[in-house]
Amino acid sequence: MSDTEVKKLVEALKNSNNTYVLTGAGMSTESGIPDFRSQGTGLWNDIDPIKYATRDVLLSEPEKFFQVTFKRFVSLVDKKPNEGHYVLSELEKEGIIKGIITQNIDGLHQEAGSKEVWEVHGNIKKSHCMECSTAFPFEELVSQVETKDVPECKNCGGVLRPDVVLFGDPMPDDFFEIAAELKQNCDFLLIVGTSLQVYPVAGIAELGIPMGIINLDSTPHDIKAKAVINTKCSQALKQIKECL
Ligand code: APR
Repeated sequence: MSDTEVKKLVEALKNSNNTYVLTGAGMSTESGIPDFRSQGTGLWNDIDPIKYATRDVLLSEPEKFFQVTFKRFVSLVDKKPNEGHYVLSELEKEGIIKGIITQNIDGLHQEAGSKEVWEVHGNIKKSHCMECSTAFPFEELVSQVETKDVPECKNCGGVLRPDVVLFGDPMPDDFFEIAAELKQNCDFLLIVGTSLQVYPVAGIAELGIPMGIINLDSTPHDIKAKAVINTKCSQALKQIKECL
């Protein structure tokens, strides 16, 4: 880890009054959840997400969606926050960061104690009926998918779906409000564990907000960042916290 980049990031955090954090799947790999695009280990290495994790597939071939994509999502739920999640929660308590915008659907930021968390791609633990909108617990979908191809609503027979944003789904209503709020009020954006390849979330890195990036691999936005640390997030975040 480059000491110079850590120093630059620490300085930027010290000089900022309104720091927000944007996280992606790399935040949770140290909790045992594979990310999507890392070579060799990413969740989408052996399947094309455009063929499985889409709204179209859910609507037209729901059995394919539930037996492949949903079962992969299910593997997230017994995982625990890692040290990086806990550092971010402490930084919020200390007033160093204001909140977290996460693309992750695993709920681990909240489990680590973070309070201001915007799950812009939803949360795997929530689900609803696509016909009558009744909410169902996650366990209901899991148990149904073990015995049949597609989980159904007990009230109306409609297909149930997890409350996660699939390719082709609209973003949650408040996403664009969050982006506008960041553009107006955020004076430093700490980006952690995302390849910044998926829009519209990656567009947050294009709002002109000064930013720092912690990610194992390079991202298309490194060039514009004030500091780039290519190390595991837990290690980088711990070091940053010690220096603050
Ligand atoms: N520490 C730091 N970075 C890491 C770590 C780690 N321990 N582990 C992995 N990474 C980095 C990888 O180098 C990679 O660049 O995290 C990044 C994760 O990128 P992606 O797999 O593309 O995940 P993400 O950016 O969150 O994907 C965005 O794509 O498929 C959709 O909806 C899905 O929310 C997801 C979105």
